[in-house]
Formats: sequence, structure tokens, C-alpha cells
Amino acid sequence: MSHSLRPRLSMLMLLAAISGGAAAAGDPATLNLYSARHYQTDEALYSEFTRQTGIRINRIEGKEDELLERIRNEGRNSPADVLITVDAARLSTADEMGLFQPIASKKLEAKIPAHLRTDDWIAFSTRARVIVYAKDSVQASDVANYADLAQPKLKGKVCSRSGSHPYNLSLMASIIAHEGEAKAESWARGVVANFARPPRGGDTDQIKAVAAGECGVAVANTYYLARLMRSDKAEDRAIMEKIGVVWPDQKGAGTHINISGAGILKYAPHRESAERFLEYLASDSAQRYFADGNNEWPAVTGARIDNPALAALGPFKADTLPVKSLAMYRAKAQMIFDRVGYR
Ligand SMILES: [Fe+2]
Repeated sequence: MSHSLRPRLSMLMLLAAISGGAAAAGDPATLNLYSARHYQTDEALYSEFTRQTGIRINRIEGKEDELLERIRNEGRNSPADVLITVDAARLSTADEMGLFQPIASKKLEAKIPAHLRTDDWIAFSTRARVIVYAKDSVQASDVANYADLAQPKLKGKVCSRSGSHPYNLSLMASIIAHEGEAKAESWARGVVANFARPPRGGDTDQIKAVAAGECGVAVANTYYLARLMRSDKAEDRAIMEKIGVVWPDQKGAGTHINISGAGILKYAPHRESAERFLEYLASDSAQRYFADGNNEWPAVTGARIDNPALAALGPFKADTLPVKSLAMYRAKAQMIFDRVGYR
């Protein structure tokens, strides 16, 4: 150990002693994971880490905003090592609140493409935001691009979840990044003018409403579609029979993707375990869990997956806009949605 490290270490030990809490410091073979991912299949993802490393995971589950508030309130005494959640906008909120510390792992830099990382948080899987349409009333060619959702020909046909939901804010942020604010705003106005009903429900509700003929088109994340495709219930698979799926903007920037990702918290008592955990998330086996368990695409280039639903959805051109840009334009996206009444 170098001499220069000593004062820092004793400072850390002092902080750990002050914080006291059961999981705060002590056992190095521990990781305190604050998770806002609520997928049952993640159990296997986490237990595999423990099996490989011997590091036990204490998981604190919560809603994104609550977890962020909690970590902020815990301050220097926070036992949180890693925050894992979905959506670039949410991770950037945590970052803007100053909750993360830089990651600086050469292993992760080598594995995760640059557009899927920032200095302070990293994406481990991606999901695409696609357009779904009712096969009996809309043509695939009518909705080849996100821009089509604002065309007058779709008047009264567009269903959407709330504009303030992070998935829609991130999509809007990507449109601002590519097209500029003015064009993005007129797009949002056009979409609102085309609503079949006021925004409500989640992505699956929009997909069901399209299948039921209540609306002609909607946007949805791909894993919701894959879930229906792989469902044991005949009625779920029947929904998929009624709808078509389009990869938007294939001739342009590519289909908007969002991410699920994680960062190491500023006062992480188990810094080393935290880094090992993030490196594990980029490993072949973890990448397969993301793909097979929750129907997401691996963030690691070339990771091999075996998921029939993702294979059936087919290959597509994904937008490679840096996740940083999604974060950068999120506030603008919300302002524009407010202005045009995309609630
Ligand atoms: Fe979701």
C-alpha cells in the first residue's frame, strides 16, 4: 500500500464507523444494491454473481424517485454501493444530483461501446422503442418513421402513455438531438393532435388498445412485445397476431433505443465489490440473462444470445446517439411536452 493512500483509507474507516448500519461497511464480501429494476428474472442474474464471486447482495428495491431521495438523504452514511435502474433519463437525474462517482474501469471501456456509457454510469442492456400498428386499419408504410406519428393522416389514431414518462421523454430527447427544438416541438404538437384518447396506462396497455381497435398506432418498448410473444397465454399471443411492428427511422438515424444501466454511488462502502459487480454485468453470462430473462439486447458488442422472440423481431438499425445526449435534452423534452399539452 502506498503511503499516500493511508490518510484516505483511515478517513473511509472513520466514515464507515460513523455510519454504523448493519450493511454499511464491515463485511467486504457484501454489495448493497439499490434497484429500481423490477423484473423477477433478475434473481438469477444476481445469484449468479454471488456464486461466481462469493459476494452477497443486499438488495433494496424501490421506485426510482424514492431511491434517489433516499440515497441523497442518507448522504455520506449511505450504505448504497450500486444503483441499477432503467432509462437514461433516470440515470442522468441521479448523476445530476451528484450521487455517483466516476467508474474508470478499463474492462468496461473495452466491452461497452462509447455511446452507451458516461463517466459515471454505464448501460448494460438496450431496448428499442418501436411503432406498433393495427394491421386491419394502418399500413406499415404509413408509420415507417417517428415523424409519421405527427402526420394528419393518423388523426384520431395515436395512443400513448403519459408524455412525462421517462420512455417518452427519452424518445423526445433523441428527436431534439437529431432535428433541433423547433422541429421536435412541431412533431410533438402533431402527435398530440392525432391522439385517439388522452394518454393513460403503460406500454402494454397501448399495445392492447391497438389490438382491440381502440387506436391505430402506438409506440412501445420491445421487451413488452417479446413478453407477449413468449407468453403462455393464448390471448397474449392473439394480441400479437393483430398488430404489426415497425422499426422506425431505418433510413435515417435508426430506431431510438433506451437502456438499463448502473452506476457506483459516491459514498459506496464496498467500492471494490461495486466495480466487480458492474464488470460482472458486462460478462457473457450476465448479458445472456438480460437478453433471455427480460428480452433486452446486450450492450456488449458481439455478446451471443439465444432468445426466440428477439430473433423473431429481427435485426434492425439502432440509433447510436450517445446516452449522454438523451440526458442532456431531457429537461427540454419535458418543457416542450408541457407546452404542447402532451401530458
Ligand atoms: Fe418498462
